[in-house]
Amino acid sequence: MPLKNDLLVRAARRQPVERTPVWMMRQAGRYLPEYRAVRKDLPFLTLCKTVDLAVEVSLQPLRILGVDAVIMFSDILIPVEAMGLEVQLTEKIGPKMPNPVRSAADVASLRVPDPVETMPFVYDIIRTLKREIADTVPLLGFAGAPWTLAAYMIEGGSSKNYHLIKSMMYNEPATFHRLMEKLADTQALYLKAQIEAGIDALQLFDSWAGELSPEDFGAFALPYIQRVFEQVGTAVPRILYVNGSAHLLEGMAASGAEVLSIDWRTDLAEAVQRTRGRVALQGNLDPCRLLGPREGIIRGVEEVRAKAKDAPGHIMNLGHGILPPTPVEHAQAFIAAAQGRPV
Ligand code: CP3
Repeated sequence: MPLKNDLLVRAARRQPVERTPVWMMRQAGRYLPEYRAVRKDLPFLTLCKTVDLAVEVSLQPLRILGVDAVIMFSDILIPVEAMGLEVQLTEKIGPKMPNPVRSAADVASLRVPDPVETMPFVYDIIRTLKREIADTVPLLGFAGAPWTLAAYMIEGGSSKNYHLIKSMMYNEPATFHRLMEKLADTQALYLKAQIEAGIDALQLFDSWAGELSPEDFGAFALPYIQRVFEQVGTAVPRILYVNGSAHLLEGMAASGAEVLSIDWRTDLAEAVQRTRGRVALQGNLDPCRLLGPREGIIRGVEEVRAKAKDAPGHIMNLGHGILPPTPVEHAQAFIAAAQGRPV
């Protein structure tokens, strides 16, 4: 069945659209009381693995905000666990890997898992969501990019200066590259199976690759993004997100992605120039703008729209995930303003 609202897919493919589509990174999350109610007594990873509840929270932003795309509820660290590394997601502290990857032997012990066998719930979530959405809006799948996943695996959790992963890059390049190959192949299989299960577009999150210089991004991160996209193929449009990416746009444009998702620190008009109109753009309002008043949100949306006017395709979004303290009415105002509805 063709989608009734395929604005996001057409914008991503640089085809004409009647209006700009909009969704938000982390749109299924703690700013919604309905999300907090489902999450209440459940560990986060249990929510990710409980199909009916993950489906429910994925659909909340569609019902409550009227977004133009649903993103499946999961986390980029799910395949890391399937590779054989223990992952803990603890309230307030964030992700923790109690046995981080530090040696060639650690890398050798990781598997490239069969995604459907090891993560069946992900594909059940996608198939159920496709049925529930009933072809109204596109369903987005996603995965973490190799560098960002390697950062969590080597650092053992979130990091300030990424010195452990960079230390492995410079001291043990063969070990580092072997890990990146395994990650790229894992993510490619994971995404290909998401396409088979029915997703309409996908986003690859290299959230922390902005920590790299342009040269190191080209040497240590980009080749593996390219390896993922080459294996995944062009059946659905592919969005690449990097936070703090102002110095990396040219490299990102060479990744094979149809869409670059840009954080708020870069002017979208400059991004159009620097990518020579070869890719569609997504973004890029500062998520903190949603903490301010409605008028400022409406103005922010119009500023982003004006900056994106020469982009070959534009998907409105935030420059990173929506923050937990965001008032729901402000998220609603952002979506309505982006869609040209009365706020
Ligand atoms: O966008 C969506 O609505 C879909 C769901 C989604 C989540 N995580 C749910 C989540 C997506 C696409 C992600 C991706 C993800 N996870 C990224 C890349 C995006 C980004 O923000 O740059 C990263 C780096 C992670 C790793 C991760 N997961 C961290 C660092 C944390 C803790 C920080 C935090 O916000 O609490 C998580 C947990 C997480 N993933 C939550 C959600 C809704 C919060 C968990 C909770 O309910 O308590």
